[in-house]
Amino acid sequence: MHMFTIGVLTISDGASKGERQDVSGENIRLLVAQLPGATVVESKIIPDEREQIAAALREWCDEKHLHLILTTGGTGLAPRDVTPEATRTVIEREAQGIAEAMRSISLKYTPMAMLSRGIAGMRGRTLIINLPGSPKAVKECLEYILPVLPHAINLLI
Ligand code: MTE
Repeated sequence: MHMFTIGVLTISDGASKGERQDVSGENIRLLVAQLPGATVVESKIIPDEREQIAAALREWCDEKHLHLILTTGGTGLAPRDVTPEATRTVIEREAQGIAEAMRSISLKYTPMAMLSRGIAGMRGRTLIINLPGSPKAVKECLEYILPVLPHAINLLI
């Protein structure tokens, strides 16, 4: 069994100021605990600022060498939703299928799913996946892709 390391990056102006609880980040930590060998080694809450998002992702990829980074929030249409743009500046290759799969399963729950612009891709040996911001969306998306993640990570090691 491979061990793999995970970072959970919550991107939310409200949660970063302590005005809102980070329920989505907590949901991610609970769900990935089901994966054998997985450990969440980094967790951080930052505002919807492109540079801060990109810097956190680069650090976790290039210095911490995490296997997987799951972001939550900032994928919608609001002017401050810049998670996909920040992620795009950091990744070297895109994994479109993961984002497509999440949007497609999500549409079975709500047509609002079409409003998430989240992407997924690789920087070096790290897989980065953008999840939407709501705790409900995190659960619906992550539960669907969870069984595929060990194989995806093994391909990168
Ligand atoms: N995906 C699922 N599975 N379930 C949801 O409830 N909410 C949508 C969408 N994706 C939702 C979902 C909504 S309402 C929005 S605005 C977008 O995710 C973007 O959310 P974000 O800006 O918080 O990332």
